[in-house]
Amino acid sequence: MTTLTPVLTENWDRPDSFTLDGYGDYGAARKALRMDPDAIIQSVKDSGLRGRGGAGFPTGLKWGFIPQGDGKPHYLVVNADESEPGTCKDIPLMMANPHSLVEGVIITSYAIRASHAFIYVRGEVLHVIRRLRAAVQEAYDRGFLGTDILGSGYDLELVVHSGAGAYICGEETALLDSLEGYRGQPRLKPPFPAVAGLYACPTVINNVESIASVPSIVENGAGWFASMGTEKSKGFGIFSLSGHVTRPGQYEAPLGITLRELLDMAGGIRAGHELKFWTPGGSSTPIFTAEHLDVPLDFESVGAKGSMLGTRALQIFDETTCVVRSVLRWTEFYAHESCGKCTPCREGTYWLKQVLKRLEKGQGTEEDLGTITDIADNILGRSFCALGDGATSPIHSSVKHFRDEYLKHFEIGGCPFDPAASTVWGNA
Ligand SMILES: Cc1cc2nc3c(=O)[nH]c(=O)nc-3n(C[C@H](O)[C@H](O)[C@H](O)COP(=O)(O)O)c2cc1C
Ligand code: SF4
Repeated sequence: MTTLTPVLTENWDRPDSFTLDGYGDYGAARKALRMDPDAIIQSVKDSGLRGRGGAGFPTGLKWGFIPQGDGKPHYLVVNADESEPGTCKDIPLMMANPHSLVEGVIITSYAIRASHAFIYVRGEVLHVIRRLRAAVQEAYDRGFLGTDILGSGYDLELVVHSGAGAYICGEETALLDSLEGYRGQPRLKPPFPAVAGLYACPTVINNVESIASVPSIVENGAGWFASMGTEKSKGFGIFSLSGHVTRPGQYEAPLGITLRELLDMAGGIRAGHELKFWTPGGSSTPIFTAEHLDVPLDFESVGAKGSMLGTRALQIFDETTCVVRSVLRWTEFYAHESCGKCTPCREGTYWLKQVLKRLEKGQGTEEDLGTITDIADNILGRSFCALGDGATSPIHSSVKHFRDEYLKHFEIGGCPFDPAASTVWGNA
């Protein structure tokens, strides 16, 4: 399997891709508005689409949890917070193809009987917010949003909301608190958002790419989507290759493609170097090494090998990279972004950072390796939300695959990759 499947990325090289003229006539929304909402939900279920925000929860099933005839307002909230280190697919998608998202919002909102939808965007990306707002305005001007959309009798208001720039606000319930104007911290579940979400009303929260994939399913049919991918991980997805790769970028391909196949298309690891380690789905997913080049990148296969597909953020590192330093940088991120609500994560990420700093400088001991593993064990499964669990992935996986490299740091009393160090890793 080496072919790309450009659907969401199909029009990205058009200079006007972000305008309605460059996108199309909302044919899928026109079709959907003539359908029974339940038939749309069924079609998305049949397609096998699973959430593209990381966890891979079946999208149609989630929509089906929204109680019908309950007399309460329903909401659709699109999670466009995208802050995970390495994850960089939703932002280019919203820049190059914002109308696929707006059209997906219309179809999804209609299916779940919502008349208000929100796109919650990471606060730092002003250019994306401007572009989305322009696309939403265009959709209003052409009668795709607002009252009596295309004469269907269906009304929908869509608000693009800017967050203030916090990774935790990508966690769906923290996002809801933030959207309601509170400090963004995760809520206790249950109740789940499908029952009591935004303003305590039934709410669907989906990732940008999940929602942007919906128009293509409505247009081409569930069978078309399900014909791509693997048995349990259907369809296509955007694979973001970054780091030490010849042609980094977004590669839209069927789920189940391997890193080896993606690297073939991306020109391989940068010239003269070789693969050392990589993340299959962002910094919260345990790292892989060259021995995992042929693991099919679908939810099941990556899980079976001890990691997670996550957001398909393939951060590639060659042999010049210090794994200890990389893990320290990721850990600093988690310590900074920990919302402080629960003790294992708030205290644990802080202490992980302190010990890793010492290890990276070559001032640690073998006992420190036990300490970081212990701290990580006390965070994993004991934290209030998945941020804490994610913070432990780089620790556990790097100690598992690169224990010798940690040891080397305190053997030589410094970082073996530091050009100023007297010994260079491999020559020492
Ligand atoms: C700390 C943290 C950050 C997250 N950030 C995002 C994000 O930026 N975008 C996203 O779609 N999901 C993010 N998620 C996952 C969401 O909680 C949620 O599962 C997802 O939005 C559901 O959408 P999906 O079913 O379409 O994947 C994050 C989760 C955690 C724990
Ligand atoms: S795990 Fe971390 S981010 Fe999540 S609630 Fe606890 S302190 Fe906050």
